[in-house]
Amino acid sequence: MPTAEPAAFPVTAAPSAESLEGRDVLTLADFTGAELRAILDRAHQLKDLQRRREPHRWLEGRTLAMIFEKPSLRTRCTFETGMTQLGGHAIDLASEHMQMGSRESVPDVARNLERWVDAIMARVYLHATVVTLAQHASVPVINGLSDYSHPCQIMADLMTVEEWKGSLQGLKISYVGDGFNIANSLLFAAGALGLELHIATPPDYEPREDVVTRARRAARQTGARIEVYHDPRAAADGAEVIYTDSWISMGQESERADRLRVFPPYQVNGALVSLARPEVMVMHCLPAHRGEEITDEVMDGRHSAVFDQAENRLHTQKAILTLVMKGR
Ligand code: CP
Ligand code: NVA
Repeated sequence: MPTAEPAAFPVTAAPSAESLEGRDVLTLADFTGAELRAILDRAHQLKDLQRRREPHRWLEGRTLAMIFEKPSLRTRCTFETGMTQLGGHAIDLASEHMQMGSRESVPDVARNLERWVDAIMARVYLHATVVTLAQHASVPVINGLSDYSHPCQIMADLMTVEEWKGSLQGLKISYVGDGFNIANSLLFAAGALGLELHIATPPDYEPREDVVTRARRAARQTGARIEVYHDPRAAADGAEVIYTDSWISMGQESERADRLRVFPPYQVNGALVSLARPEVMVMHCLPAHRGEEITDEVMDGRHSAVFDQAENRLHTQKAILTLVMKGR
């Protein structure tokens, strides 16, 4: 019985946490700043419990189905480990076995899974696939990366910034590189939480216009500052956080030659980092392509927060899982 624990589904500081039960996590744009705060608060709490080796088997008997259309190290390992630490279980539905969309339609996969499991996590090529899963499954669907967003990654990153800097507010947070799924999710988080975000991408690789518009609409309520431009040095100048991502994301391999011509001025290297604040933190969602978007010197240097980000995938996803799965 989960009641043996300090509290089953203990209430976090944010009362809105209760309202996350049953919710899908497809993009951060679907969440208010208070809801993102509730996830972060619970993630810090769960990290603390894990550090102190205090049991927190809040998902005893619960099962998470994990669908992977693309490779993964961090997402697979942290969701499975997280479910184990929470007393539950995760099933890795390797795409070559399930063949979602060819052997069985996406809606039918959802209609089957909802009969057995308590939540579904899916890493997909097309964002529309997680949307379809969510439309047809009565259990929560969590996006483990799509071509549109990577919400779990950005929650881990926000937690990491809080650990390094004490707060998310009042920091110049810069993203330098491809305006793809990571940049999109950072935009949504910045809009909801009132952050200062500068995004520098090559021309033609900006984040989608609808994403920027949506983030700026949220910013009008929260006071966020959102700047999108092409100059990597302007983004790095005085930054407290510099974030980058691969130049060639999963699914873009055929664009490799073109991208390698365009992106080199956006490399996060010692010269770029020297423009930032002395205590700048450098972030990367990983996997890193050393020598492309980030140099060894920076990735292995004292400013690098990349493995803290990877660790915090575990804690933030445990927070999400305990908040969205139905309590008993
Ligand atoms: N950052 C991230 O999602 O890592 P994986 O692709 O290894 O899951
Ligand atoms: N933009 C990268 C993120 C990997 C975690 C990709 O989609 O491959």
